[in-house]
Amino acid sequence: MSMQESDYSGMKVLLIPDPESVYLTTANLLLKAIEAALVYRGRAVVGLATGSTPAAVYAHLVERHRSGYLSFRNITTYNLDEYYPISPLDPKSYRAYMHNHLFSHVDIAENRAHVLDGTVPEEFAAAHAAEFDHWIDADGGLDIQLLGIGKNGHIAFNEPSRLSVAETIRLPTRLVELHPDTRAAAAREFGGLERVIPRALTMGVAPILAARSIVILATGAHKADAVARALTGAMTALVPASLLQSVAHKVTWVIDAAAAERLP
Ligand code: F6R
Repeated sequence: MSMQESDYSGMKVLLIPDPESVYLTTANLLLKAIEAALVYRGRAVVGLATGSTPAAVYAHLVERHRSGYLSFRNITTYNLDEYYPISPLDPKSYRAYMHNHLFSHVDIAENRAHVLDGTVPEEFAAAHAAEFDHWIDADGGLDIQLLGIGKNGHIAFNEPSRLSVAETIRLPTRLVELHPDTRAAAAREFGGLERVIPRALTMGVAPILAARSIVILATGAHKADAVARALTGAMTALVPASLLQSVAHKVTWVIDAAAAERLP
C-alpha cells in the first residue's frame, strides 16, 4: 500500500489509493489512540460514526477483538447521531447499525455504548441532548472522534447553514432538520425519498471540535467536491467540515484517490 502524506490548511491528510486501505488505516489510527488512552488513563472514550464509509472500519475492529488483541472492557463510546423519532428496534436506526456492525460482536458494556435516543419525547429532546454533552464531559472528553463527511460537507448531522463561523463552532448537541442532500442520500436505505425521517438528534460542532483527536474519512468520487472545499476553502458554515481547520493540529483526514480527485 503506498500512502502519501500531505498538509492542507494545517491538517494532516493521508492519501491512500484504494478504499480498502483507507478503512484499514483508519482502524489502525483508532486502535493507536485507544491504546494510548488506555495506557495514559486506564480507559478510552471514543466518538463513533455510522453510514456506509465506517462499516468496514468496524469489521477490522471486530476482527482485532476476535483475535484477542482488542477488548472494549474499558472503552466508552458516543455515537454522532440518530434519526428522530425512531425506535432502536427499527433496522434503519443508528442504534441498530451500531449493534449489527460493532456492539453485538465485542465485549462493550451496554451502558457504555451511548447512542442518542430517538424515542425521547420531543419536549425532552433538548434536555436529552444537553445531557449527552454533559456525559461526554463527565467521562473526561473524547479521546478520538471518528467522522465521515456528507456530500454537502456536513459532519454528523450539522448541516450547511448561513450562521457565522463563531456561532457554528459553538453548536451543542441538538435536534435538527436534515438537509435535502442528506435526505436524498438516505432515500435508498429508507425505500424512497418521502419515507426518509426528516429530523435527527446530532452531536454538535462544539463537542466534536473538543475531541482530543479527530479522524475523518472519505472514499469515492462523490465526496471529492466536499473534501476539496473542506480542506482548501475558507472556513464557512456552508461547509461544516471546513470548521475542522479551526482545530487543524489534531485532525487527520484519511481519503482515497477518488475522494482526492479535486485537490490541487
Ligand atoms: C453518520 C454521520 C454522517 C456521515 C456522512 C457520510 O453518523 O454522522 O455525517 O458520516 O453522512 O455518510 P456515508 O459514510 O454513508 O457516506
